[in-house]
Amino acid sequence: RLLIIDFGSQVTQLIARRLRELSVYCEIHPYQNVTDAFLKEFAPKAVIFSGGPASVIAPDSPRPPMSVFDMGVPILGICYGQQVMMQCLGGKVERGHGTAEFGRAYVTPKDKLPLLDGWFLTDREQVWMSHGDHVSEIAPGFAVYGTSPNAPFAITADTSRNFYAVQFHPEVHHTPNGAKLYENFVRLAGFSGDWTMGAYREQAIAAIREQVGDKKVICGLSGGVDSSVAAVLIHEAIGDQLTCVFVDHGLLRQGEAEEVVTMFRDNYNMALIHADEQDLFLGELDGVSDPETKRKIIGRLFIDVFQKYANDIEGAEFLAQGTLYPDVIESVSFSGGPSVTIKSHHNVGGLPEKMGLKLVEPLRELFKDEVRALGTELGLPKSFIGRHPFPGPGLAIRCPGEITREKLEILRRADAVYIDQIRKHGLYDDIWQAFVAILPVRTVGVMGDGRTYDFACALRAVTSVDGMTADYYPFSHEFLGETATRIINEVQGINRVTYDITSKPPGTIEWE
Ligand code: XMP
Repeated sequence: RLLIIDFGSQVTQLIARRLRELSVYCEIHPYQNVTDAFLKEFAPKAVIFSGGPASVIAPDSPRPPMSVFDMGVPILGICYGQQVMMQCLGGKVERGHGTAEFGRAYVTPKDKLPLLDGWFLTDREQVWMSHGDHVSEIAPGFAVYGTSPNAPFAITADTSRNFYAVQFHPEVHHTPNGAKLYENFVRLAGFSGDWTMGAYREQAIAAIREQVGDKKVICGLSGGVDSSVAAVLIHEAIGDQLTCVFVDHGLLRQGEAEEVVTMFRDNYNMALIHADEQDLFLGELDGVSDPETKRKIIGRLFIDVFQKYANDIEGAEFLAQGTLYPDVIESVSFSGGPSVTIKSHHNVGGLPEKMGLKLVEPLRELFKDEVRALGTELGLPKSFIGRHPFPGPGLAIRCPGEITREKLEILRRADAVYIDQIRKHGLYDDIWQAFVAILPVRTVGVMGDGRTYDFACALRAVTSVDGMTADYYPFSHEFLGETATRIINEVQGINRVTYDITSKPPGTIEWE
């Protein structure tokens, strides 16, 4: 296994991800925990020093233990990792003074190096830099293999000891060929690349068993991909010690509640509480049209309801959440080094503290696509794993203005037709998220020979990588025409269909 020593970079987890893509097993450990004894016990086959926000010149800056250099294993230092390696081994690092680099830079080769196989197919490589300090003198035994205008020691290596150190970040997207560098490094370190999601699953299960022991765990199951994968994984680890609570707020899509209950209770044999609280939620939302008030009411009731059901589960000590790595990284402080604060999921925010529960978060190292791969590994159906995201407040935020049962029912039907159209045309997987919003206006139409006065609706479909930015999906006119006709013919209560062509920003994906 490979050890990543984390010096607090924002992108350390991306290194782990690149390694998982190469089927290499790695663990990230904050530098504070990496002692001589730790290294001996861990016995890494290779080590990577991450980047970090500190300056090696500062007196108390983070260091690895010197014994790491005597283990006879390959080491790769990145950014701060390069600087700290040079400092430890007898080189020099200096403060910027016009040599800081942030953003895109180009490295030119000086010499051939196995670490760079597949690089410099042209005379330079694009890389991503982010450094104030720079190495001014390399350590004895090292040579320079690549330079950039502001980093004369952009790529350095001591090939006799298999120590490599680069000033840029090969793990990020803006170093387009960076993955190749990791591929070469793990090859040089002798990894066979046989680690799989199956192995991750086994290891995650062992970790859950170790954390939880014989105690009970409760999990808020929404039916979304993250909470579903977390629940199935935990269930596999501890079986009946897990109870899931599925809160049905009456704002779910057509057939959704039945689908979730069947899937988890019948297919997976899980202890699942179906908290049917539609009357409570819809009652409190009655007459409310302000979007933030709606969200607050739903959030508050969700916590109350969850707590009510959870209190009945005697002896529960843990709360399971499907927190993903992007949720974790959002809350990492730049100055705080590797220590992270956890952002609680919107739906159950504040619950663990309120209920005195400890958290189980088996997905907190993974990215969304990795969670999907893990879900597939756990046997969750493809149709379930690939589902579009669905927000915690559900249809409430797709129903601008007052929410009524009548409008919700019309919305559910229209949405089902729209999604059916998208699936039939084979477009579902190309789209990040698609849904119908029912508008708070009625308009006049003519159907048969009669006048109608019904609701208008808007179709929304966007492409996105992470939901942070988005663009509208370029449906063909034929598709839009056919879908509008189907909705108006099949859904009583709608007589006008529009298509939302707003990107995000300036729009948001949801309507509220
Ligand atoms: P917006 O509308 O902000 O949405 O562009 C971005 C993504 O987040 C989802 N979303 C939510 N998810 N609870 C959630 O679990 C929420 O309160 C919430 N609000 C928005 C939205 O569906 C989209 O994928």
